[in-house]
Amino acid sequence: MTKYVISGGRPLFGEVEISGAKNAAVAIIPAALLVDGVCRLENIPQISDVTICLKLLEQLGAQIRSINPHTVEIDCRHIRSTRTSYDLPCRIRASYYLIGALLGRFGTAEVAMPGGCNFGGPRPIDQHIKGFTAMGAQVFTAEGGFIHASTESGRLKGASIYLDVVSVGATINIMMAAALAEGNTVIDNAAKEPHIVDLANFLNSMGANIRGAGTDTIKIQGVDRLSGGTYAIIPDQIEAGTYMAAVAATGGQVLIKNIIPKHMDCITAKLLECGVEVEQQDDTLLVRRSSPLKRTNVKTLPYPGFPTDMQPQMTTVLTLAQGTSLVTESVWSSRYRYVDELKRMGAKIQVDDKTAIVEGVDHLTGAPLQASDLRAGAALVIAALAAHGVSEITQIYYVERGYENIVGKLRALGADIRLVEEPDQPGLTGMGVS
Ligand code: EPZ
Repeated sequence: MTKYVISGGRPLFGEVEISGAKNAAVAIIPAALLVDGVCRLENIPQISDVTICLKLLEQLGAQIRSINPHTVEIDCRHIRSTRTSYDLPCRIRASYYLIGALLGRFGTAEVAMPGGCNFGGPRPIDQHIKGFTAMGAQVFTAEGGFIHASTESGRLKGASIYLDVVSVGATINIMMAAALAEGNTVIDNAAKEPHIVDLANFLNSMGANIRGAGTDTIKIQGVDRLSGGTYAIIPDQIEAGTYMAAVAATGGQVLIKNIIPKHMDCITAKLLECGVEVEQQDDTLLVRRSSPLKRTNVKTLPYPGFPTDMQPQMTTVLTLAQGTSLVTESVWSSRYRYVDELKRMGAKIQVDDKTAIVEGVDHLTGAPLQASDLRAGAALVIAALAAHGVSEITQIYYVERGYENIVGKLRALGADIRLVEEPDQPGLTGMGVS
C-alpha cells in the first residue's frame, strides 16, 4: 500500500508545468472509436484513468501505440467487439462514453455500468439515455450490470434534445453519438466545460461537423465517416486550480505554466477575493500569497461558474482564512465526504445539506488522513502542505487517477512530500474508482 507522508508548513516557490486535461482525455480517447483511421493524440496526461481508457479500447480491438509518455496513436479501423469486459469499466466514470461512441459508429453497444467518485449521492445517466433514445436507440440495463444500446436500422438519426439538467457527461455522450448519425442533432441546455469544446474540436479535426460547443446550444450535422489525424489535448483547468489553491494555503510564489487563461477566470476570481495575488502572462499565471487569507463565499456552478471539482480544494483554503465563509455545492447533491478528515486537523466546518460553514482557524495540524475520491484527496494534500507537523494520506490511488506526478511537481516547489510504500495490511484492497 502506498501513502503520502507530508511535513507541512513550508511556503511553495518555483514553477510547475500543467499536464493535459483528465476530463478531456477520458472523453477524446473513447471518441477515437468513431474514427475509421489512426488518431495521434498529444499532451495526454500520465494518469491511471487514461491507462484504463486505453486498455478498454484495446480490449475492443483498437491498436494502441505509445509514441512517448504524452503521445499515443490509436487505430480503430479493426474493432472486433462492441461489448466491454465487466471489471475495467466500473473502475472509471468515463467508460460510459463508450456507449455513445460504439452506438454512433456501429449502431450497438454493450457497456458495463460505469464506476464513479462516490460523493455520497446518486449519479444518474437518465439524460444520456434520453439523448440516445431520441436518436432512435433502444437502451436498457440488463442483468449482470451491462447497459445495452442498439438501433434496428444500424445507424442513429439526428434529433433535437433538451437536457433537463446541465450535464457534462450527457452533452459529451450525445455529441459522440450524433457525429455519425443521419441528419442533424441539436443539444439544448448543453454543458459548456472546456473539455466539451476540446472534444468538439477533436471530432471536427477528424471530419465531423459540430457547431456551438461552448454555448448552451450545440448543432451536429452527422457525417458518413471520420478519418484520422493528429490532435493535442488542452491543459488541465482543475490541475492548475489545485496548484493555485496550494499556494494560497501555504503561502509563497509559484509560476503556473501551460494554462489557458480564459479557463482559469472563475478560479482566479475567487482567489483574488481571498487576497491572493494572481498575474496572468500569456499561458502562465504567477500566483503569490504573502498576506493573511480573507474569507469569501463560494457557490459551485456549471462552467463558466466556479467548478465543483475545485470545491474541496477551495474549502480547504478557506479553513485558514480570517472570518467565516459559506461554500454551496450546487452541482452534486452532496460532496463533503472530505470534511471529517479536515476536522481531524483542527478545521472548523459545519455541513448543512449543500452548504458548508467554514470558520477560519489560525493553523491546521498534521494527522493520519484517508482520501475518499480524487478531489477530496487533492484537498487533503493541500491541507497537509499547509499544516504544522506531519500528515500521512492513504488511499492515494484516488489522487493518482487525476494528477500526473504530483509528488515530483510539489517537491520541485519545495514541498516536503514523500511517496511511501508499506506492506499491505491483511484484508485491505486498493480498489480505485473515478
Ligand atoms: C463530469 O462528471 C466530471 N467527470 C466530474 O469530474 C465533474 O464533477 C462533473 O462533470 C461536473 O462538472 C468527468 O468528466 C469524467 P454531470 P459527470 O453529468 O459527467 C446530474 C473529477 O473530479 N445528472 O455534469 O458525471 C448529476 O447527478 C470528476 O474530475 C443527472 O441528473 O457529471 C449531477 O448532479 C468528478 N442525470 C449533475 O447532473 C444525468 O443523466 C452534473 O453531472 C446526468 C447528470
